[in-house]
Amino acid sequence: MQSKASAIVVLGTGGTIAGTSADAADNVGYSAAQLSVAQLLRAIPGLSGATLEVEQVAQLDSKDMSHAVWNALARRCAHHLARPDVAGVVVTHGTDTLEETAWFLQRVLAPTKPLVLTGAMRPATALQADGPQNLLDAVRVARSPGARGVVAVLAGRVHGARDVRKVHPYRIDAFSSGDAGAIACVEEGELRLFRSWPQSEALGLDALPADASAWPRVEIVMSHAGAGGTVVQALCAAGVHGLVVAATGNGTLHRELEAALLEAQASGVRVLRSTRCGDGRVVATPSDALPAADGLPPAKARVELMLQLL
Ligand code: SIN
Repeated sequence: MQSKASAIVVLGTGGTIAGTSADAADNVGYSAAQLSVAQLLRAIPGLSGATLEVEQVAQLDSKDMSHAVWNALARRCAHHLARPDVAGVVVTHGTDTLEETAWFLQRVLAPTKPLVLTGAMRPATALQADGPQNLLDAVRVARSPGARGVVAVLAGRVHGARDVRKVHPYRIDAFSSGDAGAIACVEEGELRLFRSWPQSEALGLDALPADASAWPRVEIVMSHAGAGGTVVQALCAAGVHGLVVAATGNGTLHRELEAALLEAQASGVRVLRSTRCGDGRVVATPSDALPAADGLPPAKARVELMLQLL
């Protein structure tokens, strides 16, 4: 007899995993988001016989991810995760903004069931397509007893939503969890666990205005040689609610940019300091005039600040 929660729902949003190219040897000149999630699943023999439901929530290149799609995706994930017959949800997603979506979903839903994001670095038509294996592994993780929270499954690794980052623009093994390391790996369909599953407080869907155009506007600026305050002043004049600064090193800022950010903060715009460094976190000190982003990289700090401002 099947256990009560045995179904896996696979939600499609597009990405390279659903991409096609006229030339199987072309790994960069392809079009993302061409195949439906149902087509992707049909191409995986290891999934025949599984209790799978599919739904196409969006069909886009994730560089174009919008708050409206996040809004719809979060609501569909919450709907399916609340069903007693569903063991977990898988989301197929482009790799470019996958980590932002992961953090958004973890902060809003913090699910007690697995919500697994996956994607691919090669289109479905490529000689070395990585999508089918990633999708198969993602379904395996979504079915694993004890799995919980938002995770990303790519290249045989299970990464937590907080730590996962795309660290390479081309390599198939393009994701890393940095200092924290992956949560687990998937070997021939078996999960080998290294540490515990992500857990945090859920903000809850009710906190999200139903119209995503009403969500707070948070932008990212970067400190660099020759930086000034003009961009910050222009964003403040345009009515931005929050700013994340990708600072140098341990959260340091060009003095002209810092002056503009302090002025913005004094005028009521929330500011968070993250680091441009690819790994690690800003080690804050009590005398910092601008708060640090709690170890989040700039793109995730932007999501975090937007949610905090709700
Ligand atoms: C995308 O993010 O949609 C395109 C790139 C990818 O999926 O690897």
